[in-house]
Amino acid sequence: QQSLSTSFMVDKGNRRHFMEKEIHEQPEVISHTLANYVDFTSGISKPLDLPFDFAKIDRLALSACGTAYLSGLIGKYWFERVARLPVDIDIASEFRYREMPISKNSAALFISQSGETADTLASLRYCRKAGVPIGAIVNVRESTIARESDVVLPTLAGPEIGVASTKAFTCQLSVLASLAVRAGVARGTISTETEKVLIRALSEAPRYANQVLKLDEQIEKVARELSHYRHVLYLGRDTNFPLAMEGALKLKEISYIHAEGYAAGELKHGPIALIDENMPVIVIAPHDRIFEKTVSNMQEVAARGGKIILITDRKGAEQASVNTMETIVLPDVPEIITPIVYALPIQMLAYFTAVFMGTDVDQPRNLAKSVTVE
Ligand code: AGP
Repeated sequence: QQSLSTSFMVDKGNRRHFMEKEIHEQPEVISHTLANYVDFTSGISKPLDLPFDFAKIDRLALSACGTAYLSGLIGKYWFERVARLPVDIDIASEFRYREMPISKNSAALFISQSGETADTLASLRYCRKAGVPIGAIVNVRESTIARESDVVLPTLAGPEIGVASTKAFTCQLSVLASLAVRAGVARGTISTETEKVLIRALSEAPRYANQVLKLDEQIEKVARELSHYRHVLYLGRDTNFPLAMEGALKLKEISYIHAEGYAAGELKHGPIALIDENMPVIVIAPHDRIFEKTVSNMQEVAARGGKIILITDRKGAEQASVNTMETIVLPDVPEIITPIVYALPIQMLAYFTAVFMGTDVDQPRNLAKSVTVE
């Protein structure tokens, strides 16, 4: 029986890198994090003592950096769609200097794995001065950002050692999704029946994440291909647009291959000029109400010799009507958890590509796990 201290000792287990271990811990830590906010059995949100009332605020400010910012971008879609709560979100290094007018009747949430990111902390202090209530979605409870907030909304991902954030990201999404549901009930934009449906969907995320981890052989094969290229474009719509940016960030920061994430609808407004046989295009597109729009984007790419890697579900694979280099078919998942489940293949793709590139996966060049300076 390991003593508590050794069981929390951080090691790679039987994995080659911390990042690989942390990718595989996600089903467990997503479940652990969600359970802190929702009751899986009753399907309702657990009591939470917030320094503001979602029913009374007219705006919510979000600010973070890097992957944490991208989780906030996805959170914006959820808060606005489920709770009809307008969200102002900005990367913290811009937020802290652009003197955004903050309404008295608002609240602010800061998202940070380490809880020590200088720009995020400075943005928090800007909001503190403006007198708005502050929440911190952090993975380190005793961090500076946590200490300076009115409420800590923990991600329970456990220590994240790999510089590239993976399990913290899906746990940040889990917190944001459960907060959006809670806000929807408070603001009367969803019924308690809908709350139950959404919470049941959230409770399924770990099981689906487990299924996706089993696609590692196919994803490793795609990564071997990808490692031969110097530039990659990621495309997505709706919540898959920030996910496209997250996929690009993961790839560039650990494999050093240049990558960009773009809104698929923006293709015609510039990026399509980049498309040729040397530019693989990774399309994140579950079969949803706007899938057809993304199919036409893929046809535009294919017509210019672009190589498409499509990440979709069964229906999407059947209706893609375009030749792809590879199609990765995920399980059919409820829309609300798509960003959480679809985060895994893009993390795995970046991981395996970096392994093929022979880079230092856990400690990529020039990067620190927490950017505590400006
Ligand atoms: C993510 O993979 C990067 N390591 C980086 O963008 C990170 O998300 C960013 O520096 C924010 O860090 P934080 O969550 O600790 O504030």
